Amino acid sequence: MGSRLVGYGSYLPERVMKNADFERIMDTTDEWIVTRTGIRERHFAAENETVVDMAATAAVRALNNANLSIDDIDLVIVATTTPELDFPSVGVQVLGRLGATHNTPAFDVRGACTGYIYALHCARAFFTAGIHRRIMMIGAEKMTRFIDMADRSTAVLFGDGAGALIFEHSSSSYSGIIDTVVMADGRDFECLHGTNDHKISMNGPETYKKAVQCMPDAARYIMEHAGITAENVDWIIPHQANLRIISSCAEKLEFPMDKILVTVDKHANTSGASGVLALAYAFDNNIIKRGQLILYPAFGSGLTWGAALIRV
Ligand code: ACO
Repeated sequence: MGSRLVGYGSYLPERVMKNADFERIMDTTDEWIVTRTGIRERHFAAENETVVDMAATAAVRALNNANLSIDDIDLVIVATTTPELDFPSVGVQVLGRLGATHNTPAFDVRGACTGYIYALHCARAFFTAGIHRRIMMIGAEKMTRFIDMADRSTAVLFGDGAGALIFEHSSSSYSGIIDTVVMADGRDFECLHGTNDHKISMNGPETYKKAVQCMPDAARYIMEHAGITAENVDWIIPHQANLRIISSCAEKLEFPMDKILVTVDKHANTSGASGVLALAYAFDNNIIKRGQLILYPAFGSGLTWGAALIRV
């Protein structure tokens, strides 16, 4: 049993923070940021805007896109690492915000930047087992909660936002979430992690090295597992952390850059929202067409990494 994509939606906060805005508050330059990361701007949530606010808006837009109501959904999975509350889950709060009345279950997945792949992995398992028939997965992050404006090496890298995808059960195993793989190695915890005082601790060069190794590995693994080659893939949507990481992965996979979706210049790294926001952007701008095969490799704190293969 498989699935098919029936709706998508996204939300980006109104405030756009350009590299020039950082130049005014810290010792950095647009040139440094663009050369090292490819990032030109990112969206910053308002102080009182929460992960639940952003996730709920993306969810409503996805439901409208699919012409469904929240009570048509029978499971909500939210990928987030930046919830304001430790409990209940962002998923349950979104259900409350949207007025769900059918006792729909919801839970959050904490996979950092790989969170949306972990969420897709769970969704695929539920479809395969025939347990749920219509699943909404949301990636939502308020990374600005962790941004330390005194640390120029991480402050410029992240942004806020949310994206939502709705999949429903299908008898075809060639549409929707076709395959997923997720991995983790806790021994590399020191590379990149949140601190108790809500800051980001990152060894940039080490994280970079791991990312350009793990994302192509996951991409190759899933293609082999699904019995396809790069020629069968229409688009690669890598986790949007850094343009140099994305280019290096494309080179390693011998995949042309014009088939790699890049949104890191506009959104920066939105962690668990990154790939979902990127797909929504591609639909909104008619870049990716329905029916195309997307390879989704991701990498994040943990370390965690993985990939999904989705026919949209
Ligand atoms: N502006 C100007 N200079 C800066 C800035 C900044 N914003 N940040 C750091 N620098 C300086 C450093 O202080 C250092 O100066 P020094 O040589 O005088 O000490 C110099 O730039 C070089 O610093 P490096 O860390 O060596 O720079 P590097 O070329 O490695 O680039 C970067 C840094 C962009 C962070 C890179 O290591 C990288 O991309 N790493 C991957 C990290 C990443 O993408 N993380 C996101 C999380 S992964 C995931 O999504 C979970």
